Order: sequence, then structure tokens, then C-alpha cells
Amino acid sequence: MSNTIELIREEALASILDVNSSDALVEWRSRFIGRKGAVNGLFNTIGTLPRDERAAFGQRVNALQSKLTEAYDKREALIRQRALAMDLEDGDIDISLPAHPRPKGGLHPSTRTHREFQKIWADMGFHVYQSFDVEEDDFNFTLLNLPPHHPARDMQDTFYTANPKVLLRTHTSPGQIRAMRELGAGGSQPIRVILPGMCYRQEQVTARSEIQFTQVEGLAIGRNIRMSDLKGTIAEFAKRIYNPNAKVRYRASYFPFTEPSMEVDVECFLCDGEGCRVCKYTGWLEIAGSGMVHPTVLRNGGYDPNVWSGFAFGMGPERITMLKHGIQDIRYFWGNDLRFLKQF
Ligand code: DAH
Repeated sequence: MSNTIELIREEALASILDVNSSDALVEWRSRFIGRKGAVNGLFNTIGTLPRDERAAFGQRVNALQSKLTEAYDKREALIRQRALAMDLEDGDIDISLPAHPRPKGGLHPSTRTHREFQKIWADMGFHVYQSFDVEEDDFNFTLLNLPPHHPARDMQDTFYTANPKVLLRTHTSPGQIRAMRELGAGGSQPIRVILPGMCYRQEQVTARSEIQFTQVEGLAIGRNIRMSDLKGTIAEFAKRIYNPNAKVRYRASYFPFTEPSMEVDVECFLCDGEGCRVCKYTGWLEIAGSGMVHPTVLRNGGYDPNVWSGFAFGMGPERITMLKHGIQDIRYFWGNDLRFLKQF
């Protein structure tokens, strides 16, 4: 009996390949899956089988029926398709053909945040300065007021190249020196730039720290730039990127390249400052390091610190993206897992 099922399956699937008209299709259908067709014939024999074989047999006939119905549907679509194509004149385009779906790419979540940053800073008069990922030790440290053996060098574990004077930048701050030297016209022009890019640190990779991440550095140099300009500018940025009521606060801090230095917190936008797991129940999220450009750094950039002053800041877009989208693990960013990337 089960052999019959196989035979019918083979015969049906072989003969449908010769079906090339709707008439032939109707004929095929009534022969195999019609009311008086072969499959129904099989169903009718169930009653003649020993009881304990009936269920298994019934299942197999059911499977055969779905298989043949599927083959029928496919053949029908093909015949319909061909009939349409026959109506076409030579050279016509068959608009009934299914289109080839084009896989759509998307922007990396960090790229999105970067673009958002760039747009806001551009609106505020800052243009983008692209600096190098591979830096000289001098620019990454010494010219930023971190001479060799300065203890603050330990704050950033560095990837060096075979040449100990060449490294992967540990922050975007070295671009400050390059921007001042390139755009400052020998310390005679004001500048306002942001410096976005990838940074690298030799760290243990965990949910909270990666060996690569992006930063957006900001730098403004002018004749009368004061701390209040820095505070106002950052507060304005926070309003534009979070919400118009975003509150910020400033905490005194230390960075070798700024004096005075401060860290900037924004009121936690997930709990409105009430305190939650993300802000560790403080009500505040740290968004930037910043300060007034240190006189030594100004001098290294070609400016006379008695005439010029400036402010600088550094922000971490990944952190902001993580907070915005509730991403728990920074390793997703550079793991190239499409299941993560496709969500953006
Ligand atoms: N470069 C610092 C870091 O990576 C961040 C920073 C702090 C940048 C203060 C600045 C600044 O421009 O003024 O930790």
C-alpha cells in the first residue's frame, strides 16, 4: 500500500512537467487531486487497512496531497505567466514579471549618531576636520601637554606600532593640534571645528569598554572665548540632541590639555532625573570632558595664549547611542552582527 503512495507521487510529479496548457492542467488535477483522483482513491482505501496502520497511512496521504497541491499551484502560476508573456511583442518589457528585490543597506548606528552630531554642530557654526587614526606620539600626548612619563599617559592604554613613536590615536584630541596648525594660519585666525573619528585603546573588552570606539572632539579658538561660552555652547548642544529642556551640570575635573577642566553631565533623559538603573540612581549621565584650552596647547598649535583663548570638548557617541536605544553591550557596535545592525 505505501508503495502505491510513492508510485503516485512519482508519476504525478513527473507528468506535471509535461503540462503546458490550462486544459492539460485541469486534466492533471482531476487525475491526481480531483474528487475522483488518485489521492482521494487512497483515502478511500483507509477503511480496508488494519486499525493500527490507518493513522500513519492517513498522514502520508495527507502529505502527498499537500505536495501535489503545491506542485499544481506552481505549475498554474507558470502557465499563467507564459500566457501573459506570449501576448508581448518582441522587445516589450514583461511588467508582470516579479521584480528582483534589491537588498537595502543601512547606516551603522554610530554613523547615524555622527551625522546627527555633525548636523547640530554645523548649525552652530562648527565645521568638520578629519584628522588621522594613525598618529605620532607627539601629537597624541606630548603636544597636548602630556610629556613622556607624565602619569596621565597611563589613563589611556595605547596600541603602539613597530615604531614606538607611531601609535593608534587613543582619543581625537591630537586633531586639535593639527587643526590649529593647519587652519589657524600661524595663530592668526579663529577656528571652530569638530573632529570626529575612531579611537583605539588596548583594553580588556567588556560590555562597557571596547578596544575601538568613536569620539567627537570640539575646538573653538578666538580672541575672547571664555568659560561661559563653553558652558553655553554645550548646554545648547544638549538641548538640540536630547530635548529642548535638557538640563546640564558641570563638574570640576582634570585633563592635561585643558585648564580649568570640567566634565559635563546631562540630566538622565530616561528617568527625567528621578534616578534609574541607567544613570545609576544619580539622575545624571556623563556626556563630555571639556575645558579651556591649556596655554601650552595653544602655543603648540601656533597661537599666542596672551591674545588667544579657546575651549575644547570630547564626547563619546557610542555611549549616547547606547543610552538612546537601550543597548546594553558596546561589543555589538563592531561585532558586525547583522541581527544587531539591521535594527537601525
Ligand atoms: N581626550 C579626552 C579623553 O579621551 C576627552 C577630552 C576631555 C577631550 C577634555 C577634550 C577635553 O577636548 O577638553 O578622555
